[in-house]
Amino acid sequence: MAHRGNFGSKLGIILATAGSAVGLGNVWRFPFMAGHNGGAAFIIIYFGCILLLGIPGMVSEFIIGRHSQANAARAYHHISGGRKLWRMVGYLGILTATIILGFYAVVAGWCLQYLYASLLGHLNGDANYVIDYFRSFSTHPLKPCLWAVAFLLITHTVVSRGVQKGIERASKLLMPLLMVLLVTIVIASCLLPGSQEGIEFLLKPDFSKVSSSVMLEALGQAFFSLSLGTACLCTYASYFKRDTNLLGSAMQIALLDTLIAILAGLMIFPAAFSVGVEPDSGPSLIFITLPNVFQQAFASMPVVGYVVGVLFYALLVFAALTSTISMHEIGTAFFSEELHLSRTKAVWILTIICSLLAIGCSLSVGAVDKIALFGLPLLDFCDYITAQIMLPMGAFFTSLFVGWFVDQQLLHDEFTNNGTVSTRFFRIYQFAVRFVVPVCIALIFLHQFDIL
Ligand code: TRP
Repeated sequence: MAHRGNFGSKLGIILATAGSAVGLGNVWRFPFMAGHNGGAAFIIIYFGCILLLGIPGMVSEFIIGRHSQANAARAYHHISGGRKLWRMVGYLGILTATIILGFYAVVAGWCLQYLYASLLGHLNGDANYVIDYFRSFSTHPLKPCLWAVAFLLITHTVVSRGVQKGIERASKLLMPLLMVLLVTIVIASCLLPGSQEGIEFLLKPDFSKVSSSVMLEALGQAFFSLSLGTACLCTYASYFKRDTNLLGSAMQIALLDTLIAILAGLMIFPAAFSVGVEPDSGPSLIFITLPNVFQQAFASMPVVGYVVGVLFYALLVFAALTSTISMHEIGTAFFSEELHLSRTKAVWILTIICSLLAIGCSLSVGAVDKIALFGLPLLDFCDYITAQIMLPMGAFFTSLFVGWFVDQQLLHDEFTNNGTVSTRFFRIYQFAVRFVVPVCIALIFLHQFDIL
């Protein structure tokens, strides 16, 4: 087999994996989900999902990847002791990640375009202007496709440089930058008059809004946000060092991911409430509401408004990029190792597949309304089928696999790095992957299809 890369340092491992986890899911989806589903009440449930299901799920993928030191399909096969069937879970993960990359690149392309537009001051105007701007851009037949492909090509450039020189280096640069931008905007936003109401909207617990579907949303969001269920973490873990503390790393990454999601809420809501805008959901929040909010909130200091706007879209681009890199790497590792291709060729295969899918998704939300499956535009269909079906399925089978089919002594040895790391939590972990994770995911599925 060709020589495989490795992450060079412990910090590199944490930043690259946290880079995968921190993405549009944190900045875009988490804040409005929390805001509308009971604020701190949702955050508590979300945190419960992270602890109970997310961290065991992460550790499982880490174990499979690091033990096998191979791409996802081969990793599942190898750790099962050569049973072919388990390869399918690896294939499922690779397919899921490739589809996610296809539609994620479209939204990431919008962010890139908005960064460009905010730099040139093109987003200045009243609320109707911003609405029209988004509509005419997102339904344009060519422009959003080009921005999505541009985003994929940037991802391509990083991934083609390899694990240490590409992925790790980019993460070490982008993640600290992202944190600085985030904290800067949070401070600016929370200093605005009337920001208190926004902080309350996010952080005040309202348990009356918590229903079973809110719990499901929290769980789905937890999986998506941690990049679970698509063998993404498994692929990254195949580049981990042998002495990496898997549980410790999973906890640090999950904590960082959650912290960034909450900070994203503290960036968006105080500014929105200070100008009396009810933050609504979906793409409109970051592409329609916010450009206007920043302008109005900092109307007395237009330069600050301009800078905050630019920084915000830069932040989104950085967050999205470290995530698209991780999705790209899953398929790249697979193609290069399984088809014995050079990394350069493998990277191109994936970029081309995802570009085609991204163009289809991009056209489906405006320019060509015939690109639909089961009545949904291709973009929404891809989002639905991956987040609601394929991703939980991947996590479900991975958990069953690790809990019941992998040699438990091997699992113990990997969990504890052959006894050099505390064994205290092994039993809890084992119980979680055997029972808690699969049962919870099964319940969600049954509920989703109205069987329960
Ligand atoms: N976790 C990222 C986010 O929050 C998205 C992401 C990156 C992802 N890699 C993934 C989601 C793999 C599922 C699977 O935006």
